[in-house]
Amino acid sequence: MRRKFIVGNWKMHGLREGGATLASDLAGRMLGAGPVAFDMLLCPPATLLHTVAQAVADAPVKVGGQDCHGKDSGAHTGDIGAPMLADAGCSHVIVGHSERRQGHGELSADVKAKAAAAHRAGLVAIVCVGETEAERDAGRAMDVIARMIDDSVPDGATAANTVVAYEPVWAIGTGRTPTPGDVAAMHSMIRRRLATLVDQPDAVRILYGGSVKPDNAASLLHIDDVDGALVGGASLKADEFWAIAETC
Ligand code: G3P
Repeated sequence: MRRKFIVGNWKMHGLREGGATLASDLAGRMLGAGPVAFDMLLCPPATLLHTVAQAVADAPVKVGGQDCHGKDSGAHTGDIGAPMLADAGCSHVIVGHSERRQGHGELSADVKAKAAAAHRAGLVAIVCVGETEAERDAGRAMDVIARMIDDSVPDGATAANTVVAYEPVWAIGTGRTPTPGDVAAMHSMIRRRLATLVDQPDAVRILYGGSVKPDNAASLLHIDDVDGALVGGASLKADEFWAIAETC
């Protein structure tokens, strides 16, 4: 009942020409493929939202932001409000990515406020959680993620307005991934945890992220409770991103 969800997080990569080409390429593949078993979302840098939204306008490809502020508007230089993302053509926004938590000192309370702001603006919040290598080595991964879920998912979260992305910090951009068993155990724990926070936990999509590539996508995407992938590096190449999506 949960449709697979393939999300490209372009991070701080891309200028107008390349962004438009990549987005148009993927839009063309989606249009040419006919019915597919997955939804596709592209999350380019803010400067490319308009360009990408235009490039995919006629295709079943959605556009999302990579972050938003916890307030709707105000004196917050350099930040982007969720209503601005919606206005730019976004349907989704990533919040709480580990690169924001670590690089910008964001705490789960901040992430919760951002997800709530996304909901107010009518956006789906993709709430990211992930443990560090030290936390995993110390046997604390499950506890850390349970706490992050509890503290990051806002009141009012539903299966329709919230997606969770499990991204172990040590797997991002490293070529390393957890074992399928570890991913299965973590996603199942996340779903059980969501049962205390949302009405229909079985309907919430839980994505895996961290070094998803064409050669490991099938084994990761066919794990129970893995409902899609949040892809970084491989989302910058149309062939690789498409190959990952096709494993659905
Ligand atoms: O949000 C996606 C992400 O952090 C994973 O990046 O490059 O390991 O696929 P990558």
